Amino acid sequence: MPTAEPPVQSPLFADLLAILRCPSCGSKLESDRAGGFFCSACKRAYPNAQGIARFVDAQHYAASFGFQWQRYQKTQLDSDKDEVRESERNFLMKTALRPEDLKGKLVLDVGCGMGRFAEVATRWGARVVGIDLSAAAEVAARNLAGRDFVAFQADVFAMPLAPESFDVIYSIGVLHHTPDCEAAVKALDKYLKPGGLLVVWLYSGYNKWYRFSDFWRRYTHKMKPETLHRILKVAVPFFYNLQQGLKRVPLVGRPAAGIVHHLFPVNRQKDPEARMLDTFDWYSPKYQSKHTYEQVFKWYQAMGMEDMRVGEISIAVRGRKPARGN
Ligand SMILES: C[S@@+](CC[C@H](N)C(=O)[O-])C[C@H]1O[C@@H](n2cnc3c(N)ncnc32)[C@H](O)[C@@H]1O
Repeated sequence: MPTAEPPVQSPLFADLLAILRCPSCGSKLESDRAGGFFCSACKRAYPNAQGIARFVDAQHYAASFGFQWQRYQKTQLDSDKDEVRESERNFLMKTALRPEDLKGKLVLDVGCGMGRFAEVATRWGARVVGIDLSAAAEVAARNLAGRDFVAFQADVFAMPLAPESFDVIYSIGVLHHTPDCEAAVKALDKYLKPGGLLVVWLYSGYNKWYRFSDFWRRYTHKMKPETLHRILKVAVPFFYNLQQGLKRVPLVGRPAAGIVHHLFPVNRQKDPEARMLDTFDWYSPKYQSKHTYEQVFKWYQAMGMEDMRVGEISIAVRGRKPARGN
């Protein structure tokens, strides 16, 4: 049923009908004129709620991300006042994309979260569609209201989009949080235009310090996000301050701080809010696989990608879908 929710979406919204497809049967979608869509072929409705169209009925395993991005809506969002635009710097290092790669292009941000990287891409002149399995998509739509950006709540494995629609697809810090990272990466190829760029950034399998946070995460991901957050509100300052204190002890202090960090990893950024956010992000997800360049290159080769490049922070891989006729 269409809802009366007013869409908070951008001008791009009106142009999107041509590339929207029913995730269930693949038919073209029609607007319900209330910011949602329906499929006259299989009679499914994808209503607008809180300003975005919903193509999933629940957040499923991504509920902790919904909590995270609703709680930390703007912590990582670049602003005009920033001396260093941290998300832009991150985007450059994790994608090896430059403004000229995105200007005027139709871009898909897979797992957009609260929209920090889509914000960069729109600033560089791209028209961006962001999808996210969690309620974070609502936050992205609000954060980027008025930009050339549209957010949908949708699953990477069943996107409401037509094949070969996008000039550039990127996914940063997302696909290792799905039950099958390889399948998720390979699912993206279909939506890319021939000659288009596919960029993914995944957690690195070369980083052995993850071992202990992975051990604790076996238990912490089962907690309600609110409960885990309350525990971390105490644990993060405790372990962070303990490490800072130990470092001041002559001789044994630094190795002891290292051991504490190894056993009970908490993020060490200066800003306490960013520290909480990133630590919650380590301990809350159900799925969190780690990968190597060897693996990801193999997946890209299996898709026939060419012109492969790596970014500055592992594991960042970019490739081009061959143009037609190649
Ligand atoms: C660590 S956050 C990264 C968000 C954003 N890319 C960033 O770096 O700020 C991972 C995001 O992936 C989303 N996600 C996980 N599984 C997904 C799926 N199957 N389809 C779409 N999004 C998914 C989560 O909801 C979450 O917002």
